[in-house]
Amino acid sequence: PLPVILDGDPGLDDAVAWLLALASPEDLAVLALTTVHGNVGLDLTTRNAGVVLALAGKDVPMYAGADRPLLTEAITATRVHGETGLPARDLPEPRGTVEAEHAAHFIVRTLRERPGEVTLVATGPLTNVALAFRLAPELPALTREVVWMGGSTGQGNRTPAAEFNALADPHAARIVLESGAAVRMFGLNVTMQALATPDRVERLHGLGNRVGAVCAELLSFYAGMYRERYGLTGGALHDPLAMAAVLRPELCEMKPMRVAVETQEGLNFGRTVCDLYGVTGEAANVSVAVGVDDVAFFELLTERLGRLP
Ligand code: BDR
Ligand code: CA
Repeated sequence: PLPVILDGDPGLDDAVAWLLALASPEDLAVLALTTVHGNVGLDLTTRNAGVVLALAGKDVPMYAGADRPLLTEAITATRVHGETGLPARDLPEPRGTVEAEHAAHFIVRTLRERPGEVTLVATGPLTNVALAFRLAPELPALTREVVWMGGSTGQGNRTPAAEFNALADPHAARIVLESGAAVRMFGLNVTMQALATPDRVERLHGLGNRVGAVCAELLSFYAGMYRERYGLTGGALHDPLAMAAVLRPELCEMKPMRVAVETQEGLNFGRTVCDLYGVTGEAANVSVAVGVDDVAFFELLTERLGRLP
């Protein structure tokens, strides 16, 4: 199994992504859950990490990281994820205790201990990863890969130009994308095609386990906003798609290209400017998802979630 550190801001789709990972021990060895500010504040994303472990019935170390972006003011997405980040009724109490070490220090220590082996799966703002890369300049070269849900080759969602995870810490995104580490990016251009439609949500409910019921409830909450704002038939499974592509890279068509992050304040603040057609002639720094088999993705997600309690 591939050793992974899951860094994110649960957040309902982060929670579904982490459940997918925890349900897949033959593919992934989850070394830790590390939390960051994002959809809700750090206290809540960290509490929600423990709730995910309780739902999965697994014991994995947890580390809390940055409670704010590097330079900007923190933003949240409670309209999408509810006030707590996990809008479901009968959630278990968090399982496990949070380690004292800061997430960025944990990432540095672990990647030094296992050079070239560990994949960082980041499904939130990249603050923790950027801090780790700044604490230890050799770290990008020691990272097997950074897999990031964030950015977009086209439209944003938090602003017309910027995707939420990119906008929530554009400077961190820039540090990581320009670090020289191998980065695979799953942006809105593919994740908005991976929808939790009503029939898919019904299938999760029909799994008959608690995880299926909770995921169905979370995704039903989420669907309202997607219907209102985008006219879509379901919520986009952003973070689960990136996680699924760690398990099964063939789910997405990838293209290497130059990606720059706009860090100048203004209309395009936080935009990932993707050189899709190679017009700059600059060397590629990111492998960007440009196509997705959403049917195969949802089959995998459903089968795996069905294994949990
Ligand atoms: C991303 O932003 C968050 O709200 C989701 O969890 C996902 O990581 C989508 O833009
Ligand atoms: Ca997220």
